[in-house]
Amino acid sequence: MSDTPQARVQAQFGARAAAYVASPGHAGGPDLEQLVAWGKKRGAARVLDIATGGGHTALAFARFTPSVVAVDITLPMLRAARELVTGAGVSGIRFLGADVEALPFRDGTFGTVTCRTAAHHFPALLPFLRQVARVLRPGGSLLVEDIMGHDDEDAAAFMLEVERRRDPSHVRAFRQLEWTAFLRAAGLTVIDEAIVPKVRTWEDWTRRSGMAPAAKADLEAFVLAAPAPLREAFEFRIEGGRIVSFSDRMLLLRADRD
Ligand SMILES: C[S@@+](CC[C@H](N)C(=O)[O-])C[C@H]1O[C@@H](n2cnc3c(N)ncnc32)[C@H](O)[C@@H]1O
Repeated sequence: MSDTPQARVQAQFGARAAAYVASPGHAGGPDLEQLVAWGKKRGAARVLDIATGGGHTALAFARFTPSVVAVDITLPMLRAARELVTGAGVSGIRFLGADVEALPFRDGTFGTVTCRTAAHHFPALLPFLRQVARVLRPGGSLLVEDIMGHDDEDAAAFMLEVERRRDPSHVRAFRQLEWTAFLRAAGLTVIDEAIVPKVRTWEDWTRRSGMAPAAKADLEAFVLAAPAPLREAFEFRIEGGRIVSFSDRMLLLRADRD
C-alpha cells in the first residue's frame, strides 16, 4: 500500500471502525449539540457529512433534515456507520466512499456541509475547503469542528508527537487563525465560532486507536518525561505516576459560502 495520508487513514480506521462507532465522545456531547443547534438555525437543507466516521453527525442531522449524504474514504467505517443508523431506525442517509479532495458532487448541491473531528487527518486544509465551497450553494453553511492547534509552538510540537505516536494517520491540528485564513481563501466567511473542551480518558483514548502495549507504555513515558508546562498546556492529570486524562480544545466554526 502506498504511504499517503489517505492510505494511513484507511489502514488506521479500517481496523478500528467498531471502536469509533462505540465511542461515547463521538456519539454525542456539547460539541455535537452545538453543531446541531447551528444546523437547526439554518433550517432544513440538503446536508453532506464529510468524513462521517461512525456516522454520529450524519445521524444527528438526519433527525431534523430530509436528506443527508455521508462520505468517508474508509469503506469499513461506512459499513459500520450504516449499521448504526439502521439500528437507530433512521432512513434517508446515503453513504458513499469519497476522498475530501475529490467530492463526487456537482457544484452547489448542498445547503449545509458538516465535518466533525476529522480535518486533522486530511493532507491539507485548502483543497478540502475548496471542495466544500464548490459543493455548497451560495449562502450555504459549513459546520466544521476539529481539534484546535495550540498557539504556543512548543506545546503544539509536543502534542503533535503524542498524537502521531498514538495514531500515525494524524497529520496536524490547525490554529484558529489558520482556519480563518484558509476558509477565507476558499470563499467561506466565519459567522459563528465556539470552543468546547473535550476531556480524553487516557485508557479509552489509547485503546480506541489500537495501540500495542509497548507503544502505549513508551508514549506514557514520553509524556511523563516532558517538561511540566507542556503537560499543563493540555491539563494532563497524573495520579500515582500514571496518566489519567488530558483535555483538548475543540474549535467549532460556522462559515458561509460567499
Ligand atoms: C474520527 S473519525 C470522524 C468522526 C465523525 N465525523 C463523527 O462525528 O463521529 C475520522 C474519519 O475521517 C475519515 N477520513 C480521514 N481522511 C479522509 C479523507 N481524505 N477523505 C475522506 N474521509 C477521510 C476517516 O476514514 C475516519 O472515518
